[in-house]
Amino acid sequence: MEKKIPIGVLASGSGSNLQSIIDHIEQGRLDADIRVVISNNPDAYAITRAQKHGIPFVIVRHQEFPDREAFDRQMAEILISCGVELVVMAGFMRVLSPLFLKTFPQRVINIHPALLPSFPGLHGQRQAFEYGVKFSGCTVHFADDGVDSGPIIIQAVVPVLETDTEDTLAERILREEHRIYPQAIQFYAEGRIEIHNRQVRIRGLKESASQVLHNPPLEGF
Ligand code: GAR
Repeated sequence: MEKKIPIGVLASGSGSNLQSIIDHIEQGRLDADIRVVISNNPDAYAITRAQKHGIPFVIVRHQEFPDREAFDRQMAEILISCGVELVVMAGFMRVLSPLFLKTFPQRVINIHPALLPSFPGLHGQRQAFEYGVKFSGCTVHFADDGVDSGPIIIQAVVPVLETDTEDTLAERILREEHRIYPQAIQFYAEGRIEIHNRQVRIRGLKESASQVLHNPPLEGF
């Protein structure tokens, strides 16, 4: 067993990505230890999930702080006091301030439900569906000062089918989110991630150049 990386999860909503991380840890497939879950939303189901698994959680209501820095400072203090090394944003619907990011340099990651840099911001799945792309997907990336703009660690490509609605597409994307997020954290836990400018390299990968996808499928071409 590798050393377990102490992580803190920030979540605002349902917390299905948090659940996937918990499940992979409990199955012994992810060398991480969730030290704390922080939510800005007292009604987030993510909190109930943490509770069910005996994971410490803290609610930090952003409305109770004079500005973003003060809110972020409070969260940073909690994460530091819990010994968190890697901050994992899992459906956390607040943009982190430069001050927070400086406290955890290259140690904050986020998941987004689109193939970045396309369709950043809110409702990535809807934006892709309405645009009419043939492939969408999801992205795990390091957080930086922009919105969904930091160096990319891993992506999953999901085809947009003619029978899809926004909801069926979102569902299939979410299923892939639940696979790539634990994988990204495991790469980090294994110390295999290197960042060169915007390029993230993972040491020891078995890559394949023949992984080309077409949608609609080619008919004899
Ligand atoms: C996920 O689809 C995640 O990618 C998205 O919010 C959802 C949270 O679901 N995040 C963003 O859109 C961030 N820009 P969850 O609470 O069930 O994990």
